[in-house]
Amino acid sequence: MKKRNVAIIFGGCSSEYSVSLMSATSVIENIKKEKYNVILVGITKEGNFKLYKGPIENIPNDTWNQSQYTEKVTISCNREDHGLIKLASHEKVHLDIVFPVLHGRNGEDGRLQGLLELANIPYVGCESLSSALCMDKYKAHELVRNTNIKVPESFIFTHQDSFEKIKEKVQNLNYPIFVKPLTSGSSYGITKVEEEVQLQEAVTYAYEFDSTIIIEEGIDGFEVGCAILGNENPIIGEVDEIELQEGFFDFQEKYNLITSKIILPARIPLKERTRIKETALKIYKTLGCQGFARVDMFYTKDAQIIFNEVNTIPGFTSHSRYPSMLKEIGYTFSDIIDKLIELGQSR
Ligand SMILES: Nc1ncnc2c1ncn2[C@@H]1O[C@H](COP(=O)(O)OP(=O)(O)O)[C@@H](O)[C@H]1O
Ligand SMILES: [Mg+2]
Repeated sequence: MKKRNVAIIFGGCSSEYSVSLMSATSVIENIKKEKYNVILVGITKEGNFKLYKGPIENIPNDTWNQSQYTEKVTISCNREDHGLIKLASHEKVHLDIVFPVLHGRNGEDGRLQGLLELANIPYVGCESLSSALCMDKYKAHELVRNTNIKVPESFIFTHQDSFEKIKEKVQNLNYPIFVKPLTSGSSYGITKVEEEVQLQEAVTYAYEFDSTIIIEEGIDGFEVGCAILGNENPIIGEVDEIELQEGFFDFQEKYNLITSKIILPARIPLKERTRIKETALKIYKTLGCQGFARVDMFYTKDAQIIFNEVNTIPGFTSHSRYPSMLKEIGYTFSDIIDKLIELGQSR
């Protein structure tokens, strides 16, 4: 069979640029080279698309963007091009499928997915609408709440709302509360607020990341996650659990696990893990996910499952939570990549 051209897109005009470099490196290292021609496309922090033909190690250490290795390209929205156009030479690069290994805004939020839909190029992961809904923490909660799954109580605010109004509204929430940018990732812009005196600073900080913020009641429970893979009949990995010592799962903890631990399988009876998986699948379907996603929930002492968020392009290094959960049920990282490409192509 002819090798298919797979474009792996990395970087991105997002606060999670560096996280993407790590995920993409793992995908590049583990994709089956005998099956696919790998075409690398880096997006700079400024949002410029570049075809990259240099050494792989320049990606994780962020030195890939050098003129001897890169050429400016654009994804052509003309369907007959079906791929990239080099801006200097106008030469076309045919793509069979795109694997966006991008996190956060402009990569995971439906914008790039929309462009690929317009260009009629198959791609890995959730479609534009589903990606956008999962990125919006409030809208995702509203849709999931309608299916009788519990979600944290919350309010959203924009710069139109005075601080007085914010204070008055959040009086109805039990402390601690979580102040977050509406569309964030990797815990950027999030503060756990224990007392009202910390509120102003937390609000200002969250606005640095988004023009809309969400303030949620804190859920007293531990965090559990489910890795889901598939379109119509997805498979679900083993449930994991985050053990926190203090605070919350912030950027430092997520990527360095200083005091926290990921425990797999979660220390919950099998029957409860099954209930968590069923809830995760219902959330995945409700939000129209396809390909893959990691569904994060809280599990409380009184055995309630409360939805937190869906990551439509979850952290994707070979030791990240998503592949680890699937490894528990027998899938290697290379198998997962293969399956994702198949799923993207068959849609
Ligand atoms: N309502 C909440 N109750 C308790 N902890 C929360 C709540 N919201 C967020 N957290 C903590 O903050 C972390 C990051 O929040 P999350 O909404 O998942 O943002 P991100 O998209 O940046 O991962 C969570 O993993 C959890 O540790
Ligand atoms: Mg999260």
